[in-house]
Amino acid sequence: MYWTKKHVMMCTSQHCNQRGAMDVLGRLRREVFRRGLDTEIMVNNCGTIDLCDIGPNMVIYPDNVIYGGLTAADLPDILAYLQGGPVVERLLLQPRSNFEGKRRDFYTGMLSNNVNNEGAALELAKSHDLDDVFFEEQFRRGFMARKPIEGSDQMRIHPTKKALTRYGLLDAGNRADDF
Ligand code: FES
Repeated sequence: MYWTKKHVMMCTSQHCNQRGAMDVLGRLRREVFRRGLDTEIMVNNCGTIDLCDIGPNMVIYPDNVIYGGLTAADLPDILAYLQGGPVVERLLLQPRSNFEGKRRDFYTGMLSNNVNNEGAALELAKSHDLDDVFFEEQFRRGFMARKPIEGSDQMRIHPTKKALTRYGLLDAGNRADDF
């Protein structure tokens, strides 16, 4: 990196913004400045990072850390982390975190139950505590796709290779060329 030791990017796109991202970002910027950390920590906003249902979200480079579900009350812990403190585990996106676990379980359920119509998939998502925002985002961001059913005006849906790769499901039984 150039002069920065860390670069914080806070998503301020629609869904994160509706949940207070601008407020969190503003407070963080002020506090980074007040503590004199702006000499080595850069704080910016950014567009969506494809985790719209769990925002407000923040990415920190070069740490490869993503924090989700942020509120202003989390800022003391975030600031402590930026100053060399421990990772804030409760906010951290990781394979076994609550956020990612629900997503992975949803995709696992789609595959193991052969769910390929939209209504059933949405119900399955909701049974994993994932909302409509999550569901729509999966299509927009290429984690799920719609395919016409031959000889019908119906569509079937399926997880894409991108989703299967992300959730470690591209293994025996889930052939990559199906997706
Ligand atoms: S709106 Fe923030 S991750 Fe999509």
